[in-house]
Amino acid sequence: MARVVVVGSINMDMVVVTNTFPRLGETLFGTGFSTSPGGKGANQAVAAARLGAQVTMVGRVGADAFGAEMKATLVREGVDVRYVTTARQATGIASITLTGGDNAIVVVPGANSELSPEDIDRAADVFEQADVVLAQLEVPYETVLHAARRARALNKPFFLNPAPAVSLSDELLDLVTLLTPNQHELATALQTREEAWADELARRPGQIAMTRGKEGVSYADMDGKLVHKAGFKVDAVDTTGAGDTFNGALAAFWSLGIDEAVRRANAAAALSVTRAGAQGGMPTLAELDTFLETQS
Ligand code: RIB
Repeated sequence: MARVVVVGSINMDMVVVTNTFPRLGETLFGTGFSTSPGGKGANQAVAAARLGAQVTMVGRVGADAFGAEMKATLVREGVDVRYVTTARQATGIASITLTGGDNAIVVVPGANSELSPEDIDRAADVFEQADVVLAQLEVPYETVLHAARRARALNKPFFLNPAPAVSLSDELLDLVTLLTPNQHELATALQTREEAWADELARRPGQIAMTRGKEGVSYADMDGKLVHKAGFKVDAVDTTGAGDTFNGALAAFWSLGIDEAVRRANAAAALSVTRAGAQGGMPTLAELDTFLETQS
């Protein structure tokens, strides 16, 4: 059972379903509304836990109803919330417009923006026991950098899902074991052209797994040769959280090697889009195994 520490955001997702995305200045009728647990950090924690990993979340919520609900959800999923502490600001929220299975998201970080390097230091014991440390960029950059430094000092693999996209410093890039961007995030992270992705992957063998939506995932093997893992074909209901499922699964299965970990994470991400909500479709280990048996 992999021990995974997730440093990241916890949001309540406010999901509006529409037939088309609204244009600037336009008012539309929606066809549905729901709230569901989200946040890239919490999503990745839940994805890894459902697949059998022992997960500890390091994050912040507000002293409000959403915060209590989000923490309770994590506990129900078997995630250790000892290091999910209370902030002055309100729990983070994400406003998600869902249209035909696609989405547009606005995040208001709130409590997530108070996750500090001191919070990382307080979680020193779980860093020491971790097999993988996993982070995203919905919490402050200096906190992520601090977590990466601590992971390096302990010789632990540090995975960074660089979302939302920002340019990454050389220091942070050097501390990352595996970067998991999509094509746009890769270009922004490395300050390069989107078309240059294949060269960037080849330049960093085994260090970048680039997600390509339903096309699958690409990375370079240790010889610098490009490997493409095709996506699994499913009927998409809601793509929210597919990338998070991929990241959580990758951490859970990392001990199997990049090839097998990516194959399983790809399958988990495919399954995740077949049900509504960021966490709603994330598979359990048994569901993933059953799915993979039908695919081979
Ligand atoms: O990756 C999907 C997530 O992004 C949503 O759950 C939302 O909270 C935003 O953080």
